[in-house]
Amino acid sequence: MTDQPPAYSGPTRVLSGVQPSGALHLGNYLGALVKFARLQHEMDTFIFVADMHAITVWQDPAKLADQTREIAAAYLASGLDPAKATIFPQSAVTAHAELAWVFNCVARLGWLDRMTQFKEKSGKHKERSSVGLYTYPVLQAADILAYKATHVPVGEDQKQHLELTRDIAAKFNHDFEAPGFFPLPEPLTQGPGARVMSLRDGSAKMSKSDPSDYSRINLTDDADAISQKIRKAKTDPEPLPDNLEALAARPEADNLVGIYAALSNVTKEAALAEFAGKGFGTFKPALADLAVSVLGPVGEQMRGFLADPAEIDRILAKGAAKARETAAPTLEDVMKLVGFWRA
Ligand code: TRP
Repeated sequence: MTDQPPAYSGPTRVLSGVQPSGALHLGNYLGALVKFARLQHEMDTFIFVADMHAITVWQDPAKLADQTREIAAAYLASGLDPAKATIFPQSAVTAHAELAWVFNCVARLGWLDRMTQFKEKSGKHKERSSVGLYTYPVLQAADILAYKATHVPVGEDQKQHLELTRDIAAKFNHDFEAPGFFPLPEPLTQGPGARVMSLRDGSAKMSKSDPSDYSRINLTDDADAISQKIRKAKTDPEPLPDNLEALAARPEADNLVGIYAALSNVTKEAALAEFAGKGFGTFKPALADLAVSVLGPVGEQMRGFLADPAEIDRILAKGAAKARETAAPTLEDVMKLVGFWRA
């Protein structure tokens, strides 16, 4: 006999979000957006623009709404379908903030003190960080649990935040004597393109904060820029090997083969079978052609959507209405469980 509380037994649901705080790149595309578009065919899917998380560091108020529209345009250009997935801005659904407050009172300081992303982002001057940056993972838990989401596609770097989300869910269920009320959501971190590295350094993640634009391919790069960045990508002089073990010892080569595989939707083994024994003089032009053929249309569609911001706004408003409706009963239950006054 165990004394485990009963597990959550509600429906499965996917939820994830991207912050509107900088240009999207190939790593975001392969690691997040393509995954979201695939999952919408498998489960009820909620994808939002994390504008409340974005303001944990300064954002220009004159630009923030357009940055939000740009992420929405990238979602749509990557194949998210507003008829299938619920697409909305986080700040348009007040349930996130309301639930985050309750969760601020559930989570323990000791839990947040362990969060490595805060330590990295706050750097040497923790006392000058916003309080929001510190409680950022608590808001993330609220994003997820307001919809009782069960599956959360995120990068490896977010696993710790998902653990915190589970800890908060379990403590809430326990403290308010509501076994199985919140699910303990699982991160979905696997898949092709899960780890796209910098084109200049195979040991660092491709990142919007890398000072070198040559380290990343932006979703808005044109064909020339994409080709040039791949041509200049760091490599070694050896031809490509015929097995994954040999490839793994060469991080830059491994990264480019991984990108090729993810963009052409084949395994790395299959990509190697095609290029084993060939040098980068052959492989890079093939990769550049592939990248241009996949990303070119994505960038073009993004620009198309952005040319009609009123349509994006209609989609976001509709998504927000659906999101509010979905979160409302959960929030009402939370208010009652906590014992807040209700008329
Ligand atoms: N913290 C996530 C990131 O930087 C973004 C995010 C915010 C998120 N809320 C979320 C992701 C909820 C998944 C679920 O990538």
